[in-house]
Amino acid sequence: MTNAATEHIKVRPAAGETDLAAIIRIARATEQEEDFEAVFPAYLRHLADHGRLVVAERSAAVAGYGATLRIGAGPDEICMLTDLFVDPRAHGAGVGQAVLSELWQDQSRRITFASLHAHALPLYTRFGLDAWWPLLYVGGDVRAVRKPDGWSVEAAGADRVAALELSWTGFDRSAEHRFWSAWPAGTGVVASLDGQPVAAGSVGGAPIEYGICHLAIAPDPDPAADRDRVRDAVLAVLSWLQPADGRARACLPAPHPATRALLTAGWRVSEFDLHMSTEFGLLDARRAVLSPGLA
Ligand SMILES: CC(C)(COP(=O)(O)OP(=O)(O)OC[C@H]1O[C@@H](n2cnc3c(N)ncnc32)[C@H](O)[C@@H]1OP(=O)(O)O)[C@@H](O)C(=O)NCCC(=O)NCCS
Repeated sequence: MTNAATEHIKVRPAAGETDLAAIIRIARATEQEEDFEAVFPAYLRHLADHGRLVVAERSAAVAGYGATLRIGAGPDEICMLTDLFVDPRAHGAGVGQAVLSELWQDQSRRITFASLHAHALPLYTRFGLDAWWPLLYVGGDVRAVRKPDGWSVEAAGADRVAALELSWTGFDRSAEHRFWSAWPAGTGVVASLDGQPVAAGSVGGAPIEYGICHLAIAPDPDPAADRDRVRDAVLAVLSWLQPADGRARACLPAPHPATRALLTAGWRVSEFDLHMSTEFGLLDARRAVLSPGLA
């Protein structure tokens, strides 16, 4: 999707410390709340190593950046837009469109979590995505969350977590689990019901956004039991956390079974994004517990 508005914009792979500094400048200017010293640079390097990270130049200066990550492989592969941010002085000038035209060319299964910025949803809609459900950033005091009966939780290595997730979902997220485990206060975690592992994920992210990064849950063939299991897995992991200030968060689809339980326990929604995708159901809103940056 190149046109007169975007042809003066050059999109290229991000490379080196100068681009890193330009990306951080744009991230600050667009008011992202990040640990710009350690976590955010590591996140960008992860995207450059495992996905695609590009910058857009306009008038010889970096005016925006974007990134995608492939999740899964073969016909089930999903291409997630993890980031798209443009210098506020260049908003509405076609930079976002130019970046997307480079990142999204032949992938049919596309997802993202769109901000509520007025340009975001229309832009993604034009690239074939529809908005399906809000992803809520739910935060609160872990001491208000009771561990459900029969559950136990233990720390685990990233490779064990990734192997469990692969066996339940078919998705290999080992690179991301290793990345999250290396975060401040990061670790893998396995939750068991009656001694049997049924949930595996990563937690971490201190001092900003500490909480569940991603949690995979073994499916139960009985829909009612599955719903309870998905809810209780989230509650069990959150009740196990011991942050110094007692506070944590999880990013949950609004229809997720744990959402109501946490709001009833006094947790609060601080913000939300809109999940957009080229077809409904690429992510399961009743089961997904994920990171808006890496899914
Ligand atoms: C969202 C963002 C990445 C889009 O980039 P951008 O360079 O501003 O977007 P573009 O100029 O390429 O395209 C915006 C499109 O939205 C359209 N648009 C703007 N307001 C609109 C509205 N209210 N209704 C419908 N369309 C609208 C514009 O007309 C434009 O389309 P056009 O090129 O056909 O005219 C950028 O504005 C940004 O960084 N915003 C702040 C940070 C953020 O929220 N990022 C999104 C994370 S998901």
